[in-house]
Amino acid sequence: MQNPFSVEIRESTRKSHRMVENAAFIRGFLRGYVDPHNYLQLITDYGLIYSEMEKGIRQAAKNCRITESLYFPQLFRTASLEKDIAFFHDSLGRKKRLSPTRSAFQYRDRITEITTRNPHFLAAHIYTRYLGDLSGGRILRKVLSRALSLKGPEGLAFYAFPQIDSIPDFKTHFRSQLDNLPADRSQQVEIITEANLVFRLNGNLFNELKGNSLRNAFRLLWPTPSPFLKTRVAPSA
Ligand code: HEM
Repeated sequence: MQNPFSVEIRESTRKSHRMVENAAFIRGFLRGYVDPHNYLQLITDYGLIYSEMEKGIRQAAKNCRITESLYFPQLFRTASLEKDIAFFHDSLGRKKRLSPTRSAFQYRDRITEITTRNPHFLAAHIYTRYLGDLSGGRILRKVLSRALSLKGPEGLAFYAFPQIDSIPDFKTHFRSQLDNLPADRSQQVEIITEANLVFRLNGNLFNELKGNSLRNAFRLLWPTPSPFLKTRVAPSA
């Protein structure tokens, strides 16, 4: 008997998941090496990607039953990313907004393309990003808050889902929607293939940020005063 789709997609993307988990940028992040400039770059990239994804989901949910089944506006991150970007931008005393990276534009372009040509592929983007955010968010929030000595919830809106009462219950519902997706076999296979691509697109973002980390290492050797560090360091307990 075939596995439920939620199990099949997890198993068929396991290798890809391991690949992003092992990206140098993520490994460093989990060890607490978080450069605030680099983090601002990451959320700037996410801002571009999530806004395109959420625009696409809203549009596709109207006439694609697969996207409609996974239409969860309570997960949307565009507004929270905008808040976090503004916070880090001000805290770092930046005058100009950062531009997204090349990898972020490529990721965005893929979303634009499938929204018009194959809207059901969006299911793969919804699965990979939002179930990932619901799964790893708590750990990442803790690491980030500690590494950057953030005082309160400011700068961490991306990790908060105030419209969701119980994350475990919501994940169960999400998985049952996956299991009951109105998709035929060939569409299921396409969604799995796209999910592996989404992991690779995320890996590309991290690899490009790792390149930026080298530049930031030089910045650490010759630091310029950072208002972020001056004003935001919490008193040690
Ligand atoms: C920081 C490194 C990461 C760690 C330590 C991590 C860890 C985990 C863990 C422990 C789970 C299982 C949670 C559960 O079963 O409830 C999970 C699930 C998941 N993660 Fe990650 N993750 C990381 C990065 C990512 C990234 C970058 C993505 C996407 C781009 C991602 C996508 C997913 C998805 C889609 C799931 C759900 C799998 C499923 O149950 O179908 N993860 N992750």
